[in-house]
Amino acid sequence: MSTIAFLGLGRMGAPMARRLLGTGNDLIVWNRTVERTQPLVASGARAATTPAEAAAEADVVITMLADPAGLETVLFGADGVAGSIRPTACLVEMSTVGPAAVAALRERLPAGIGFVDAPVMGSVGPAANGELTVLAGGDVDRVEKLLGAFGRVVHCGGAGSGAARKLVLISAALAGVTLVGEVLALAQALGVPRDTALDGLAAGPLAASVQRIRSADSDFDVSLAAKDLTLATDAAALPQLTAARDWLRIAAAEGAAGQDLRSVVEHIHPA
Ligand SMILES: NC(=O)c1ccc[n+]([C@@H]2O[C@H](COP(=O)([O-])OP(=O)(O)OC[C@H]3O[C@@H](n4cnc5c(N)ncnc54)[C@H](OP(=O)(O)O)[C@@H]3O)[C@@H](O)[C@H]2O)c1
Repeated sequence: MSTIAFLGLGRMGAPMARRLLGTGNDLIVWNRTVERTQPLVASGARAATTPAEAAAEADVVITMLADPAGLETVLFGADGVAGSIRPTACLVEMSTVGPAAVAALRERLPAGIGFVDAPVMGSVGPAANGELTVLAGGDVDRVEKLLGAFGRVVHCGGAGSGAARKLVLISAALAGVTLVGEVLALAQALGVPRDTALDGLAAGPLAASVQRIRSADSDFDVSLAAKDLTLATDAAALPQLTAARDWLRIAAAEGAAGQDLRSVVEHIHPA
């Protein structure tokens, strides 16, 4: 039996942590908003009061946080993981923060700590059902069985390779959604009924994007999607991804920041 600390019980983290309850491991959970630990504690997890407390006795420390700033606070802030993580432990970073943040944090971790970057593809439905795609880089062999509780584990290579692959795949997915939004705006301008356009698109190369817009088991904040494309466009100058990022920023500024990604479509209009 191992002791697992799971830090970050948001839309994704809560169902992912719940997947670990049945694995025969000891589960310690921590979340900035304390109330979110309660359902897991009621199901058998233990709650820690700080990230440091959660990490202190863990063999594996998993982080699933919103963005690089949140990860920085949890790892290196007051009462952060870095101050207490055991020298034999492995840190598994599952947030989408990009390879630059992963490289920077690895440099600052105590020497000898195992490290895996393992961001995921798939939203809240697959998170609850253990059907995520886990894009794992680094010391994956140390935690592969554990990661299998979340879904299919893809070995991406050395540390940072999972974070890099995640940005590539999510950038394509997000740009597909904003492209459907633009095409629907064109359809409106040309008098093509929306459902006619969507049904036609669903039969073509944008099928997955239409499926994402119609998905009922996805819950991914527009603000986090904008964060992902900001990470991508910081890494390389690419006009189409920049345009997709800007649609997400516009939607967030117009009040959709905390709504699911699909709502960006309603904020895309002809100039
Ligand atoms: N939702 C999806 O469909 C999806 C799919 C794949 C990957 N992801 C990625 O997975 C990560 C988590 O996404 P999510 O949808 O679960 O987000 P979420 O519901 O917004 O949860 C974010 C988590 O981060 C914590 N957090 C944020 N800022 C913090 C800070 N400064 N200090 C400490 N904790 C902080 C939140 O704590 P509080 O509860 O206190 O706010 C919460 O636990 C993100 O990187 C996202 O891009 C999301």
